[in-house]
Amino acid sequence: MDQERHQALISPPHVLFATSEMFPLAKTGGLGDVCAALPAALAALGADMRVILPGYVSALDQAIGKRRLATLPEGGVLLLGRAPGTGLPVYLVDRPDLFRRPGGPYQDPEKQDWPDNLRRFAALSATVAALALHGDGAGWQPDLVHANDWHTGLAMAFLALAGTPRPASLFTIHNLAYQGNFPLDEARALGLPEEVLSPDGAEFYGQLSCLKAGIRYADHITTVSPTYAREILTPEHGAGLDGLLRARVADLTGILNGIDSAAWNPAGDPELAAPYDAQRLGGKAIAKAALQRELGLDPAAEGPLLISVNRLTHQKMADVVLQALPALLDDGVQVALHGQGDPALEAAFRAASAGREGRLAVRIGYDEALAHRLHAAADLALTPARFEPCGLTTMYAMRYGALPVTRPVGGLADTVADIGAGDPAAHGTGFTFVEPTAAALVAAVHRGSAVFRDKPAWRRAQKRVMLQDFGWQASACRFLALYGRQVAMMAGVSPHPAGPSWERHLAAVCETETKAA
Ligand code: ADP
Ligand code: GLC
Repeated sequence: MDQERHQALISPPHVLFATSEMFPLAKTGGLGDVCAALPAALAALGADMRVILPGYVSALDQAIGKRRLATLPEGGVLLLGRAPGTGLPVYLVDRPDLFRRPGGPYQDPEKQDWPDNLRRFAALSATVAALALHGDGAGWQPDLVHANDWHTGLAMAFLALAGTPRPASLFTIHNLAYQGNFPLDEARALGLPEEVLSPDGAEFYGQLSCLKAGIRYADHITTVSPTYAREILTPEHGAGLDGLLRARVADLTGILNGIDSAAWNPAGDPELAAPYDAQRLGGKAIAKAALQRELGLDPAAEGPLLISVNRLTHQKMADVVLQALPALLDDGVQVALHGQGDPALEAAFRAASAGREGRLAVRIGYDEALAHRLHAAADLALTPARFEPCGLTTMYAMRYGALPVTRPVGGLADTVADIGAGDPAAHGTGFTFVEPTAAALVAAVHRGSAVFRDKPAWRRAQKRVMLQDFGWQASACRFLALYGRQVAMMAGVSPHPAGPSWERHLAAVCETETKAA
C-alpha cells in the first residue's frame, strides 16, 4: 500500500471543497450558506478542509490575509487566504478576465447570464483538478475533492480522466434544476475532451451538461436530503437525469443539510434589538413591532404576520403565492415579502402591494440583514415549493420561532411535520399542504392562523419548533465517514483498518452517525 495514502487514513483527510459560492464571500442562495457552514463543521471535527472558489470582487475584498501561491497557466493567479468569521483556508482563483466583474456570480447587473459561463466554470474546474493532482505549490494536496453543483461538475470529469493514483472525488447535487448546459461546439472550442462530450460522458440532449459531468464522473454522489435523493430517481423529479442517477444509485447518498446555528441564532443575532430563545420569547415581540414599523405594517393587526424570504421563481411557487395574496389578506393575515427573481413576478408583487399598505409589505431585492429581521418578526413563514432539494429558509424560520407553511417535498418532507388536526401543542412543526394550488396554500395558512389565536397552544408549538436540532454535527459526521470510505477505496485499503488514530477519533466524536453512513 502506498505509504502516503495509508497516512490519509491514520490522519484526518485533506479535503479540497470546491464551490462557486461561500457566504459571506459570495452567495445567491442556500449553496453559499452550506459551502460556508459545512466545511467549517467538518474542520471543527478535525478534517483538514480547504475551500476553493472564484476570485469574485466580493471574495477578493473580504478574504483575509491573501497571498499568491502560483501563476495559472491561462493567466491570473491562485491565492490563498482565510474566510472571515470561520478562518477556514480559502483558495481564490483570481482570473481577472473571468471573475472580476460587476454583477453576481452568474449574471451581469442586468440579470443576464454571463455569455462565457462555460469558460468561467470550466476554468474553475480545471484549476480544482490541477490543484488536486499536483498540489498547491506550497506543500498541500487533498486526499479527496468534494465538488458542489454544476459549476464544479467538470472537475469530477478532469479528475476521473487523469487516471490513478489521484484523489478520491465526491459530488453534491444541491439542485438538479440548474444543470449548466452549453452548446457542444462551445465546449469543443474550449478543448474539452471528446470523451466528456459523448453521450456516455456528459452530453445531454445535444449539449454539454456540467451537472451530468459531476454525476457521471464522481466516485460518489450526495444530495442534500434523503427524500430528494429518492425523488430524483423518478422521471417527475429527475430533470432528465433520473436514468443516470438510477444507474448510479449504489453510489448516491442523501445527507440532510444543517444550518449554521451561530449565524442563525435569535439569542445572539446582531440584527435584533433584543435577543430571545425558546424560554424567553419577549425579544420576538420586540422584533415584530420593530419590523412592522420598518415596513409600515399595522402594529395593531390581530392576525399572524406571515413572511416570505425566497427567490421569486417557479420552484418556490412565487406565482401561486401571488395568486393567494388577496385571500390571505382577506383572512386577516399580515404579509411581508422579500425576494428577487423572475422580473415579471417582481413587478406583479410590487403592483399587488399598491393600496394594501399596512397589511402587505413587498420589498424586492436581496438583503441578508432584512432576512434575519423578517424571520425574527414572523409568526408564520411561507416556504412553499414545487420541489425542494433541502430548503434552508424553512429551518431558519423554525429556529426563529416562525412556524412554516410549506409542501412536503424533498428536504421539506424531512424537516417539517404537519401539526394536523389534533392537539397543536402535542406534535408537528408546521402546516403543510399537498396540492400546489393557491386554495391549498390559503387553507394551510388558515390552519396556522387558527392555532395562532389559541395563545397557550401556539406558545407550546413555537417552543417545540425552536428546540429542533438542525445543527450540522450529525450530517458532518456522515460526510466524514463517507470521506474516509472513499479515500480508503481509492487507496485500495479496507475503510476500517485496525486501529488507526483518525478512525478512532471519528468514532469517538461521531458515535452512531459514522455507523449509519
Ligand atoms: P435556495 O437555495 O433554493 O434559494 P434555501 O432555502 O436553501 O433555498 O436557501 C435560500 C437562502 O437564500 C437563505 O439563506 C435565504 O435566507 C436566502 N435568501 C433568499 N432570498 C433572499 C433575499 N431576497 N434576501 C436575502 N436572503 C435571501
Ligand atoms: C439549492 C436548493 C435548496 C438547498 C440549497 C442548499 O439551492 O434549491 O433546497 O437548501 O441548494 O443545499
